[in-house]
Amino acid sequence: MTSTVFTGIAELVTGDALLDGADHSEHLGLLRDAAIVVQDGFISWVGQAAAAPSADQRREVGGKAVVPGFVDSHSHVVFAGDRSEEFAARMTGVRYDGGGIATSVNATRAAGDDQLYALVGARVAEMRSQGTTTVEIKSGYGLTVQDEARSLRIAAEFTSETTFLGAHVVPPEFADRRSEYVDLVTGEMLSACVPYARWIDVFCEPHSAHAFTEDEARFVLSAGRDAGLGLRVHGNQLGHGPGVRLAVEMGAASVDHCTFLTEEDVEQLAAASQATVATLLPGVEFSTRSPYPDARRLLDAGVSIALASDCNPGTCYSSSIPFVLALAVREMNLTPAEALLAATAGAAKSLRRDDIGVIRAGNRADLAVLDAPSYLHLFYRAGVPIASALEVGGRHGR
Ligand code: NIG
Ligand code: FE
Repeated sequence: MTSTVFTGIAELVTGDALLDGADHSEHLGLLRDAAIVVQDGFISWVGQAAAAPSADQRREVGGKAVVPGFVDSHSHVVFAGDRSEEFAARMTGVRYDGGGIATSVNATRAAGDDQLYALVGARVAEMRSQGTTTVEIKSGYGLTVQDEARSLRIAAEFTSETTFLGAHVVPPEFADRRSEYVDLVTGEMLSACVPYARWIDVFCEPHSAHAFTEDEARFVLSAGRDAGLGLRVHGNQLGHGPGVRLAVEMGAASVDHCTFLTEEDVEQLAAASQATVATLLPGVEFSTRSPYPDARRLLDAGVSIALASDCNPGTCYSSSIPFVLALAVREMNLTPAEALLAATAGAAKSLRRDDIGVIRAGNRADLAVLDAPSYLHLFYRAGVPIASALEVGGRHGR
């Protein structure tokens, strides 16, 4: 039971709206000259350094800024193979339609367990080195009973936020037997994956011949819910469509992408803001040359938003939340404070977690340290690797 007091925090963004003595002007719960006491991996005290209680040991941060560790609530890092040529083709104007997913499925099925485990481990380490302390990981490049279960078994070695995405695309061998594939996903595959999954997700997209229709997606989500999984939806990525409507109807925790939204979609998301978060993935718009959604429009309407990487081999092979933050401010009309809150507390809400995303006593000591005096440098110094997860030690489990 060793306690550590972290001092020398020039600026602390807590995200705690109730913190006494903090600057709440931009909802950041911001303190200057702060300290944090950590015990067994959890925060036991947060406040002004001058008032810090004594602890068994002291660690000097060195005049840097500390923010909540980033919560990357959407990733697909269980894959093998390379699709960099697909990216290059898109930069010359080729449209993304989900067809390239089959390339990653073939490579993932062919990879050995140890190889796949090592690939996921390296990607998670890469995220951590850039300030991410929680990651959600989806399956979706196996698309057989064994390969989906294997993907989730490996993902569960790295996070408790695992998502079954057997309904990513209809694999080529089922191309003219779609309903058979939906039966497999909702039957034997679901049963094999449930032990390793917290969530179920579906790529509901009428603009892709490979993805699932509204009715198919509703069927998949209902089966997942009946099996005890929480619901997430890939929706409104390639054009207007039913994803948001379906996610709200079914009480999904998150509907992700939201690139193309009608006024009605925005109204539905605003009305459902306590239950359903709109997760924005601007790395995807960057990597597919798509228009960026207007996050300002969503916030002004009262929608709950999150920002995440979507790190995957097709639409965004970047694990960098700082990159996502910079895009959100530059291209989606968020302030730096709004963007940071969306990638921390907002993303935690999309995972229905209140023990992460905010630095407050009782929460997990998931912290990111910036090699800079202020959180503003995350945006101001775009592309410079100033963020990393702060190693606090002491907690077992994820
Ligand atoms: O979130 N849209 C569906 N799935 C992923 C991309 C998968 C891929 O192209 O490999 C996404 O964009
Ligand atoms: Fe995705």
